[in-house]
Amino acid sequence: MPHIVAPSLLSADFANLQAAVELVDRSVAPWLHLDVMDGVFVPNISFGLPVIKAIRPHTKKVFDVHLMIEEPQKYVQDFRDAGTDRLTVHMEACTHLHRTVQSIKKAGMKAGVALNPHTPVRTLEDIIADIDLVCLMSVNPGFGGQSFIQNTYNKITALQELIAARGAGCLIEIDGGVGANNAADLVRHGADVLVAGNSVFNTPDPLTAIAALSGGQDN
Ligand code: DX5
Ligand code: ZN
Repeated sequence: MPHIVAPSLLSADFANLQAAVELVDRSVAPWLHLDVMDGVFVPNISFGLPVIKAIRPHTKKVFDVHLMIEEPQKYVQDFRDAGTDRLTVHMEACTHLHRTVQSIKKAGMKAGVALNPHTPVRTLEDIIADIDLVCLMSVNPGFGGQSFIQNTYNKITALQELIAARGAGCLIEIDGGVGANNAADLVRHGADVLVAGNSVFNTPDPLTAIAALSGGQDN
């Protein structure tokens, strides 16, 4: 399966979100990554439900929503109603993760679990068979444009072993510090989805950047 590039809207011009969404719509990227932050789980506030709802009519791309919020279970149906296709919650924010994962799937979305850089892959042992995606944070969540944490490569290997051991079928998503310098390496190591904010939107030609991260597929 070719890997998936998910441009993150966090690094787009917030004064012109429609243009950014339409740009991604014209690109080869199949997903759009949407980072929701509450200023509590992470030390930053981004955007939420009304923004996701407002941009939904401007593209048919898959909405890959990454919740960096406390108590995400309260908002599962709201994110579905706003047009989310895939909803990822943080392991560190969920006391009853199994219940939250089931409610995401029941609401008609694919369920993802994100791990902070310090959270070991082994904490997924008893949930891995129930989820569709693991998001390995390769920076501390909260901000775009940070440096990639190299230990992520070890975590990809550990995650591949866990997925194989449990006969699970979930995707491995890498989020943070991904760019032209490490995209090919990450895919070689086993990444299925590459999230990229800064390396797409803070370049002179985001469409070409997305194509390059996609392995040279044409726009
Ligand atoms: C960080 C977010 C990321 C962010 C990645 O907390 O989860 O999705 O947009 O940004 P870059 O690609 O700039 O590191
Ligand atoms: Zn993210």
